[in-house]
Amino acid sequence: MSRIRSVIRGTGAYLPERIMTNDEISTIVETSDQWIQERTGIKQRHIAADGQLTSDLAVAAAKGALASAGIAADQLDLIVLATTTPDKTFPATATAVQAKLGMTGGAAFDVQAVCSGFLFALATADSMLKTGLFKTALVIGAETFTRILDWSDRGTCVLFGDGAGAIVMTAETDADAGDRGVFAHHIRTDGTKSDLLHVDGGVSSTGTIGHVRMLGNQVFRHAVTNISNAIKVVLEDTNTRVEEIDWFVPHQANQRILTGVAKKMKLDEDKVVSTVALHGNTSAASIPLALHTAVSDGRIQPGHLILSEAMGGGFSWGASLFRL
Ligand code: UT7
Repeated sequence: MSRIRSVIRGTGAYLPERIMTNDEISTIVETSDQWIQERTGIKQRHIAADGQLTSDLAVAAAKGALASAGIAADQLDLIVLATTTPDKTFPATATAVQAKLGMTGGAAFDVQAVCSGFLFALATADSMLKTGLFKTALVIGAETFTRILDWSDRGTCVLFGDGAGAIVMTAETDADAGDRGVFAHHIRTDGTKSDLLHVDGGVSSTGTIGHVRMLGNQVFRHAVTNISNAIKVVLEDTNTRVEEIDWFVPHQANQRILTGVAKKMKLDEDKVVSTVALHGNTSAASIPLALHTAVSDGRIQPGHLILSEAMGGGFSWGASLFRL
């Protein structure tokens, strides 16, 4: 009997027009371009305009992904959107995207796993396509993350930016998919570490939105260990050798984490897609943004094998393996 597999058919991304440089941040908090670049690799980040919503960023990325897949919005029957910065407490931002795309059928919902959100959304959509529940999925990571920053906290406000990335996936039989497809995921959380990276507000706790709080150096240590473990599981589950990976598309939190994981896993550093310098950390948007960047500039080609990973608040973390 032929099995069903998810195939990634197109990618898209959107970054708000306004760019904030490290020098501009140095006028807001006591920091410097040199410190930010040395400790994180970040040079600039994009900031959403007043009135520009997470769903607006998501729709722009989604339209790009649909165009590159050659699929119309009315062919979609599933939208899974990863975000930590929804338009409203409810309904799900994915339903705003559904309406703005003019898609009237199917189902749309949000996934909340902070910086690992895109991998959790990818695993969710992939599972739903594989079981035959849906046929054509839009998976989005979109954030207006700068709206939950404390602009007087130099330990966090220099790190993050806004943006969105999206992919379109279809359910295909093994025979039609050929060697393409989404092959494996390993997603995990550990709620006991939530105090190390969280927002100090919320609907049922303070009734406020709150601001990001992070013990950066502790998160850093856990990030390298958890990400490396997730990668190992995915490679073992699929009998894949590190040398077989064409591109490593990680969550973009800090260049030192990207480099540290690549070294630990013996991944060729030339195969690491890094956009952190230009985008900062865009949380759930960073992986599809990096993926689209390397697809559009021609580095990632059809048939390439891609390993992706992330770690974020929760703690949440994971890794995925797919071939475009
Ligand atoms: O995407 C979700 C997951 N998030 C992450 O993975 C983030 C992980 N953490 C990191 O990327 C890094 O820990 C940071 C970039 C946040 C911080 O780098 P660090 O090398 O771990 O620095 P630190 O927190 O240990 O701070 C070192 C020093 C401190 O000063 P003292 O106490 O040594 O005098 C900080 O006050 O750097 C100071 N500092 C700054 N100085 C200038 C912290 N932030 C800044 C800043 N500008 N923006």
